[in-house]
Amino acid sequence: MGWGCFTRVGGASFIEPYRTAALDRWWAITESGTVRVVGGTPCEYVRGVARSDLVKALLRSHQRGDDAGFQRAAKDLIEDERRKRHDLVAEQLEAILDEPGHRRRPPQVSSLRPLPKTRDDLPLISLEEPRLSFQDLVLPKPVIEVIESLVDEFRQRSAMRAHGVSPRSSLLFVGPAGSGKSASAEAMAGQLGLPIARVQLATIVSSYLGETARNLEQIFSFLEVGSWVLVFDEFDMLGRERSGRADHGELRRVVAAMLQVVDDHKADSLFIATSNHPTLLDSAVWRRFDEIIEFESPDESARSEILELKLRSVHYDFDLSDAAKKMEGFSAAEVEAVALDAIRLMVRELDKHVTSLHIAYAIDRGEARRQIIRRSQV
Ligand SMILES: Nc1ncnc2c1ncn2[C@@H]1O[C@H](COP(=O)(O)OP(=O)(O)OP(=O)(O)O)[C@@H](O)[C@H]1O
Ligand SMILES: [Mg+2]
Repeated sequence: MGWGCFTRVGGASFIEPYRTAALDRWWAITESGTVRVVGGTPCEYVRGVARSDLVKALLRSHQRGDDAGFQRAAKDLIEDERRKRHDLVAEQLEAILDEPGHRRRPPQVSSLRPLPKTRDDLPLISLEEPRLSFQDLVLPKPVIEVIESLVDEFRQRSAMRAHGVSPRSSLLFVGPAGSGKSASAEAMAGQLGLPIARVQLATIVSSYLGETARNLEQIFSFLEVGSWVLVFDEFDMLGRERSGRADHGELRRVVAAMLQVVDDHKADSLFIATSNHPTLLDSAVWRRFDEIIEFESPDESARSEILELKLRSVHYDFDLSDAAKKMEGFSAAEVEAVALDAIRLMVRELDKHVTSLHIAYAIDRGEARRQIIRRSQV
């Protein structure tokens, strides 16, 4: 007895029970010094201390608005419950923790250090708090499985490194507009309790001589000190600008430098590039990513699920699958827009339910919007 209950607290300190020469006295080394064990077995005592430390860590991180710390402490607490075979409690806690992001306090992204800016005072990156969670998204099972494995790997990055491997940390999300690429990047950041650092590719490339290198340096030194989900939207800009811009070579160098940093950083930050024109990316760029995830337009049953999800806060009395059938070709974002339009109409008309008339009107509006966009792209 005694030595089997070494307990890790808050992911950092160890509490170690030991016996003095007097043999009948048990002591424990804790974060706040050595204390005599009074009452119970040392294991019970240590667990008691460990548990109260976990709760303290939880409250402290909540008080500070430190969501990453809060997530860590909550996970430790859940693990502690599992160790004690309180599986039901652990599951309930996990379910609470997984509730939609907007109900959770988002991580604070205020930074003591000023954001890096160009010589003309334009921000080179923007910091955002993730608000979406995977509960807000309908994604195909294979996509969810890959994302879950990536989140898991990233969480266990220290253990990975201890075994001589690094987690997959540079990801490319490809797929049509409104299919959930940016939303998934945000939900991943939310799951990991990390802020999003959005990088403005166009702003980094400067027309001033030597400024691009200075901009990059500024970004790197800012990012170096923390963990982020680094997001590059419209990554295909690199391909799009190929023929047109004189500074295309510069753009390529910027991207190569960013990818190199991600490689070197192995990997306290997650790098996610998104593109809805993947054909514009050349093979050298594809190869740089650890993982590529393809997002698709939703099929009929996914459209029906999205509609149901986005109407979860209201009552409705129309046939979901009928409506989903009518939205052939709609992206997930367009289905969401239909749901929100239908709710707006319900409110305007002082109704208590979203009816088939509301949804038909919203689908018509959605279709009209699609036509306008299509015409503008010809
Ligand atoms: N698969 C999905 N399930 C539910 N809602 C979705 C899904 N995909 C997108 N949405 C909704 O549409 C919004 C816009 O989607 P998002 O910005 O992720 O699209 P995207 O793929 O990044 O598009 P783009 O290529 O234009 O940047 C999201 O914030 C979300 O609310
Ligand atoms: Mg996007």
